[in-house]
Amino acid sequence: MKNIVVIGAGTMGNGIAHVFAMTNYAVSLVDVSETALQKAVETIGNNLDRMVNKGSITAEQKAATLANIQTFTKLEDAAPTADLIVEAATENTDLKLRIFQQMDALAPANCILATNTSSISITKIAAVTKRPAQVIGMHFMNPVPVMKLVEVIRGYATSNETTSLIMELSQNLGKIPVEVNDYPGFVANRILMPMINEAIQTLFEGVAGVAEIDTVMKLGMAHPMGPLQLADFIGLDVCLSILRVLHDGFGNPKYAPCPLLVNMVMAGKLGVKSGEGFYQYTKGSKDLVVAPSFKK
Ligand code: CAA
Repeated sequence: MKNIVVIGAGTMGNGIAHVFAMTNYAVSLVDVSETALQKAVETIGNNLDRMVNKGSITAEQKAATLANIQTFTKLEDAAPTADLIVEAATENTDLKLRIFQQMDALAPANCILATNTSSISITKIAAVTKRPAQVIGMHFMNPVPVMKLVEVIRGYATSNETTSLIMELSQNLGKIPVEVNDYPGFVANRILMPMINEAIQTLFEGVAGVAEIDTVMKLGMAHPMGPLQLADFIGLDVCLSILRVLHDGFGNPKYAPCPLLVNMVMAGKLGVKSGEGFYQYTKGSKDLVVAPSFKK
């Protein structure tokens, strides 16, 4: 594999483009918005600067990585030479199904079609293509350049050959791939989201405050972030939508989202991206400040 197309220039898309380009793959980053593409390349440059400043890569490696990335606003200009397309568009089922139909129509017959979905069924996505054996989940974690895991998800029809190629490719990226099957939430979010939901429920019931809940999990369980800070980092809308997938998929009330989470999403308090969730975020500051609604 040489030519990798990444669809979507958001946080996950730019992180995925970053790691492929740093491993010397030719990356075509595709997004409908030229502004989003420019912003993504700028973010990749900033994240590479962090690595240069830490001494983990050289300035030459930074330049070579950026030179491996081209940007496109039309999939038809990038897909015809692709060996692998990784879709990292917005987490919306209809949108992803439409994009996969386009990918299938435009990519060469031997190209593998992967999705970075955090919760949409790989089997469902594969079913809208004429190559379900070559459709697979490649679930990267945020921040992609830092997190070691790639959750590799086999859909109902994914072939052994496709799975082996993607496992090997993920290792080439310096990641640790783990193969899992296609059931709601896969493994990562089936376990992570109930923990986050329980933390929100614990807050909702007044058992403890935001900082206290996070401190218990950070210091008691050695988590790098507490569950409420992590929810803000992931996006409360994303957490809610994954919990709904678990709730609908298993029909089990244990996955019902906490009413406080539902309210916060309706109020537009989505975490880091909206400037407020359980904490309040100020550009340029790394201080963790509990949001006014949760101050004691
Ligand atoms: N690109 C490159 N390097 C980055 C980076 C990025 N985007 N973000 C952080 N880093 C690097 C920093 O330069 C730093 O490097 P060194 O260790 O070499 O010094 C290191 O990562 C740590 O960063 P910081 O010092 O800035 O901050 P930190 O120590 O607080 O760590 C964190 C930040 C890595 C995000 C850490 O808090 C963490 O691991 N949090 C949990 C992240 C997590 O759980 N992610 C999964 C979310 S779930 C998901 O993604 C999937 C889903 O479907 C919902």
